[in-house]
Amino acid sequence: MEKRVYNFSPGPAVLPLPVLEIAQRDLLALPGTGISILEISHRSKAFGAIIESAEANFRKLYNLPENYRVMFLQGGASMQFAMLPMNLLRNTGKSADFVVTGTWSKKAAEESAKFGKVNVVWNGKPENFVRKPLPQDLTFDADAAYAYVCSNETIQGIQYPADAFPKTGNVPMLCDASSDVFCRPLNLSQFGVYFACAQKNAGPAGVTVVAMRDDLVERSTDDLPTMLSYKNMAENNSLFNTPPTFGIYVFKLITDWLLEMGGLSKMEEINKRKAGYLYDAIDHSNGFYTGHAHRECRSTMNVAFRMPNDELQAAFLEGAKTRDLVELKGHRSVGGCRASIYNAMPEEGVKRLADWMNEFYDKNK
Ligand SMILES: Cc1ncc(COP(=O)(O)O)c(C=O)c1O
Repeated sequence: MEKRVYNFSPGPAVLPLPVLEIAQRDLLALPGTGISILEISHRSKAFGAIIESAEANFRKLYNLPENYRVMFLQGGASMQFAMLPMNLLRNTGKSADFVVTGTWSKKAAEESAKFGKVNVVWNGKPENFVRKPLPQDLTFDADAAYAYVCSNETIQGIQYPADAFPKTGNVPMLCDASSDVFCRPLNLSQFGVYFACAQKNAGPAGVTVVAMRDDLVERSTDDLPTMLSYKNMAENNSLFNTPPTFGIYVFKLITDWLLEMGGLSKMEEINKRKAGYLYDAIDHSNGFYTGHAHRECRSTMNVAFRMPNDELQAAFLEGAKTRDLVELKGHRSVGGCRASIYNAMPEEGVKRLADWMNEFYDKNK
């Protein structure tokens, strides 16, 4: 096997090695079928069992209330930016409230505006997206079709603490959890919709999981393209057409792995420890490293930080590579570095990065 390095990519991202090993085995033949996971019919009994387990695992991990549907859809999280307003806003005669904390909620708001009235209730852009809003910053329209948040802004590394999501009363809150799904326990009943593309914390690119409250599923009107109707997808248990079978299968393996690891409380404990190594290196560097996000909303999944200048950054990244620490360059819109440390990133990898940050600081301070 080619040597594996520590891959800090924001997505597609590192997957758990035990999951990759099972996938490697099943690539030739799924146990009991003699057929590859890439070859199997989505209408087969074996695949039926896989998609059912994928959903059951998701429900179990989040203790999801019965009155939510779970769908496995295509088109990435970006497709949800369009499907949500098409299904839940367009025909309501109401507007949608958006909390814009970074690049992804901004994009979602812009896409939604093609289908209905969008009201940005808070925008972090003038401050360069460094924080989430405070409760007193937010006033929601009590008659909005929905309110929208992104739980973790992948590019800026801004995350709502689990107990600090906005309170929207009777207005359903929609949440893009693409980059922090499964990172911690969360009460999903505070959301009308909770969705995530898989390619960060839940599998390979190609599948997006959407948990939606029943009454919202019913909002889809019949004039929508069939493939873009939640009602159609939910009624057909995500098997209206050929679903992304391989992605759903890996999603199932990852959720098996999460359950074996001890569930989301265990992941939260590990994630806090992992993120702590990097934030400690930042905080103990006397300003040599500067974190992008304000402390109270620092992400445990994406750690964005800067160095005093571009030359030092280039040397840091070069040195990181020789230590098998790769994909650490920040997004072009923010600059600096970003370490994406999803569930599957081994603790050893994060420790090695923290050691390199400390060593580099000592050499260059
Ligand atoms: C928070 C968040 N939302 C949405 C997206 C877009 O996902 P996709 O590329 O699957 O459309 C991303 C991708 O990085 C993301 O991090």
